[in-house]
Parts: sequence; structure tokens; C-alpha cells
Amino acid sequence: METISHVVKVSLPNYLSGLPIPDSIGGWFKLGVKDWLALIPPTALVAGLGYMSYQAWCPEAKKSIKARVNHKVKKDVSKVVDTIDVEDITEKAFFCRCWRSENWPYCDGAHGKHNEATCDNVGPLIVTKKK
Ligand code: FES
Repeated sequence: METISHVVKVSLPNYLSGLPIPDSIGGWFKLGVKDWLALIPPTALVAGLGYMSYQAWCPEAKKSIKARVNHKVKKDVSKVVDTIDVEDITEKAFFCRCWRSENWPYCDGAHGKHNEATCDNVGPLIVTKKK
């Protein structure tokens, strides 16, 4: 506890008071290379803490690109919607569910490569015509 108290009451104030922060806006233009280098660590610390706070509390930041399933199909529209006329299905139709097909919305077998690379187990939806 004594160590934390010393850091907060003595070390940190001494460090901050030693930073070359100018008293005026014009003073920033007079800083030398050494001064700017001295400002990098505290600036990086503040930026890092700000970024971590943003990631922790901002719901939009939690929507990571990695969470997306669709990486390439119709990326220019806000929602991918396809309509297939049942009458156009001859006997069977294989619909992609992995979002990797080059022949969207139909399966082209790309799920195999995806499954191999990610240990996933996705496959197509097969729609058959009633006889
Ligand atoms: S290519 Fe996507 S399920 Fe087959």
C-alpha cells in the first residue's frame, strides 16, 4: 500500500511536472525533438486507455469485423435478400449457408475449403421438389 501511495503522491506528480508541456499554444511550436520524444510515452498511455475504454463501453465497437459471416456477397447493399422462384427449381437446389460461394445464393462447394481452414462444419441447404 505504501508503494502505491508513493507512486500516486510523489512519483507520478514528479514525472508529470517534468513533462515539457508549454504554457501557451505558441509554445507547442517551440518544442524540440527531445521534448516531443518525452511526450510520446504519456500520450501513448492516454491514447491506449482511451481506446480500451471505448472498446469496453461503446456497443458499436463490440461489433467486430471478425464477427461478420458475410465477407464478400453483395457488400454494396445494407441487407442481402434473395428470391428464388420454387418453379425454377428442377429437382434439387443447393443453397449456400457459409457465405463463401462465388455463385451466391447457390452452393459452389466453397464451404469445404472454409470448413478445412476454420474447423467449421457448415454445408448447404438442399431444397428438393416434391414428387
Ligand atoms: S458454398 Fe456455401 S454452403 Fe456450400
